[in-house]
Amino acid sequence: MRAPRSGAGGPGRPVDVDALPGEPVLSVRNLTTVFATRAGEFTAVDDVSFDVWPGECLGIVGESGSGKSVAALSILGLVDYPGGVAAGEIRFRGEDLRRLRPEALRALRGSRLAVVFQDPQTALNPLFTVGRQMTDFVRAHRRASTREATRLATEKLRLVGVSAPEQRLRAYPWELSGGLRQRVAIAMALLLDPELIIADEPTTALDVSIQAQIVELLVDLKQRLGFSLIFISHDLGVVSAVADRVLVMYAGRAVERGPVGETFAHPLHPYTAALVASAPTLESVRGRPLPTIPGSLPGPSDRPAGCVFAPRCPRAQPICWAEQPPLAPVLPGREAACHFPLLPDAPATTGTARG
Ligand SMILES: Nc1ncnc2c1ncn2[C@@H]1O[C@H](COP(=O)(O)OP(=O)(O)OP(=O)(O)O)[C@@H](O)[C@H]1O
Ligand SMILES: [Mg+2]
Repeated sequence: MRAPRSGAGGPGRPVDVDALPGEPVLSVRNLTTVFATRAGEFTAVDDVSFDVWPGECLGIVGESGSGKSVAALSILGLVDYPGGVAAGEIRFRGEDLRRLRPEALRALRGSRLAVVFQDPQTALNPLFTVGRQMTDFVRAHRRASTREATRLATEKLRLVGVSAPEQRLRAYPWELSGGLRQRVAIAMALLLDPELIIADEPTTALDVSIQAQIVELLVDLKQRLGFSLIFISHDLGVVSAVADRVLVMYAGRAVERGPVGETFAHPLHPYTAALVASAPTLESVRGRPLPTIPGSLPGPSDRPAGCVFAPRCPRAQPICWAEQPPLAPVLPGREAACHFPLLPDAPATTGTARG
């Protein structure tokens, strides 16, 4: 069965993908990324599959250490020694990125496939002006005169709401505020009109009011330019504002996937329910006392044979410890990796996950 999506309909409005034409921009199948550690091999991303469709935003959420960034880096071919993608397929517009030569992958990164990181410092070198970096970036990817590259840089800065862009081009990154630096980083990502942008916690380092502006900017740009977006965040409030669909990760595994509105309003997986119940910025939980999720992520040596969430799950039964549940359809357009998903007519048990 093909994955359902909500795309053009906007956040929370599910659209049956079988009714939509076209192919996914990105198709990830059984992605497994491991790190060699002193304690042995550690699986940071464990058999994860998902699609990203044209013009949609897929949010990826999960606690710190759940494998969100490693999944993004795996797609970008940026997992370094002692780690590596051990298995799976990563298809971008049908092309298997794992089979691409390093220089072809480098050419793709930054052009058709762009990235925005949490810390804009990673994208910007403090030693060079914004203009120099943007024009160098354009010229590393395509033939262009300095004048043409400068014109493009100015246009993209304007697009992301930077006022007096000609002046900003002459500035060094450290002369700019955090919010402005992130706008510049987004303009860099947009320079060559990417089809897919992977944004890993792009607002986490910013003040709340600036966060909201950057979120609004990304939503607006996505609508106007039509790129697809993978938006990684531990902040469910931000994800619900940006994403159409959401993938919930726990201990390297995909535990739930579905339209963002329905998933956060009525989680199927007890882990998602616990995450929602402890989300301070989510509209649905605002004003309520915030519980934390009891327990912690299992370490490399104490992952259970069955469901990775079983040790913290209020609904766990013997089968949960013994058998790993696959991510499977539970409701139309909704999937969960759970032996006992929280079906809408089931007794309200989400609260049992609260500390
Ligand atoms: N270079 C590395 N060597 C060993 N383990 C690593 C390495 N990079 C990441 N990991 C491990 O992989 C797991 C997933 O990490 P990842 O950075 O993807 O988490 P995350 O979900 O992005 O968390 P956060 O919300 O804190 O950004 C973690 O347990 C982490 O310790
Ligand atoms: Mg991360």
